[in-house]
Amino acid sequence: MGFLSVLSTAHRWIAERVQPGSAVIDATVGGGVDARFLAETVGPKGVLYGFDIQAEALLRTEARLAPLREQNLLPEVHLLQSSHSEMERSIPRELHGTIAAIMFNLGYLPGADTTLVTLPETTLAALDASMRLLAPGGILTCVLYPGHPGGREEADAVEGWAAALPSALGQAALYRMIQKPAAPYLVAIEKRTSISL
Ligand SMILES: C[S@@+](CC[C@H](N)C(=O)[O-])C[C@H]1O[C@@H](n2cnc3c(N)ncnc32)[C@H](O)[C@@H]1O
Repeated sequence: MGFLSVLSTAHRWIAERVQPGSAVIDATVGGGVDARFLAETVGPKGVLYGFDIQAEALLRTEARLAPLREQNLLPEVHLLQSSHSEMERSIPRELHGTIAAIMFNLGYLPGADTTLVTLPETTLAALDASMRLLAPGGILTCVLYPGHPGGREEADAVEGWAAALPSALGQAALYRMIQKPAAPYLVAIEKRTSISL
């Protein structure tokens, strides 16, 4: 039978925690697979913010969301051509601290310019912002790709960030096929339900 894929595991961990009507963020919309999953999970009463630096990614995501729009099943959607490192400025103040899930799927857009990749500095800034935007009990997932140039350094930086996160702030988990060191793997954070900072 085999273990669930990394992406299916990220989706499952989110589906187990996110209620219809929630506000969620896709930090790297790319081809829109995760955005569609998030849209279906929060439903028409929910809110979805999506970020990508490439117009092509936003077009692909809009196309993937179109069937939900036709069936009136789409949440309120905001797709922004912007770096996820700007997310705190782009999300309305009243939603800060209420976001139920934030997904990152790092690397490049398949079938496009493979040099346009996520980078450690902006990724870490966005992860820090995500911890402020998440609701208590909210979940952050980050799929890491150590197989492309620069990918391993970025994956190491994210893993180090997660391992150093104070446990009073959140619980960090790692899901990885350890016989395949170049394969994508998952880091997830569940924000603590009550925090005293
Ligand atoms: C692996 S793809 C994402 C896959 C997507 N989640 C899906 O379901 O199809 C990575 C995406 O990150 C985007 N990206 C790169 N740097 C970014 C940044 N600073 N902020 C937001 N998106 C970025 C790329 O343009 C690319 O589309």
